[in-house]
Amino acid sequence: MSKPTETVQSYWDARSDLFGNYYKKPSSFDRVFRKGVYERQAIAVKACKEIGHATVLDVGSGPGVNSVSLIKNAGASHVFGIDFAQQMIDYAKQTVKEEGVAEKCEFVLGDILTYDFGNRRFDYSCALGVFDYVENAAKLLQIMANRSTHSFMASWPENGLRMALRRYRYTCPLFHYSESDIRALHELAGIAPDKLELIRIGGGWASVAHK
Ligand SMILES: C[S@@+](CC[C@H](N)C(=O)[O-])C[C@H]1O[C@@H](n2cnc3c(N)ncnc32)[C@H](O)[C@@H]1O
Repeated sequence: MSKPTETVQSYWDARSDLFGNYYKKPSSFDRVFRKGVYERQAIAVKACKEIGHATVLDVGSGPGVNSVSLIKNAGASHVFGIDFAQQMIDYAKQTVKEEGVAEKCEFVLGDILTYDFGNRRFDYSCALGVFDYVENAAKLLQIMANRSTHSFMASWPENGLRMALRRYRYTCPLFHYSESDIRALHELAGIAPDKLELIRIGGGWASVAHK
């Protein structure tokens, strides 16, 4: 029997608790096999902290746990989270309320690829676990480059056994990247090679691009 397929939006709309628990109630399995999730969070915090009191765009903000961490651990002054899954937005709003940082956060339901930001820009933007689900990675990276005045950070899954297992399990489309893909995408977004940091993490790469 063939596997059911769904959109990325409906996939994540049904899994806000599951993903939130990777942070809130991590199992031993999560700590070992999803260590990239925690590594990329630490890199996002470090890059944001370097700016100091940054305004942040959290692309695909999911359960809002990273938004909280950017406020509490990186000293961000404000986080604007965008996600196209309503359940994730509701979960994120609840998370920031519970963590006492709701007044520094704003979450909107929307597709990052079509959302109208007007002139709004941020010191820093990050996309953690999002390029995995975006077919037009060049467009998303360009949006992040245009919206960020200081730097922007992202995680990138690589091909391999883990990706093969995810493709078997997941019912929505998934995309992967090589080191050269990531470098080429940044050049396309106007980032010179010497302004790009690429860091190995579990399951792929994290990038920090400096304007
Ligand atoms: C794996 S979760 C990661 C959540 C969060 N960034 C984290 O690391 O905890 C990916 C999230 O990206 C969101 N997402 C994927 N593509 C998106 C798009 N085009 N616009 C807005 N949100 C998107 C999904 O709805 C989902 O909540």
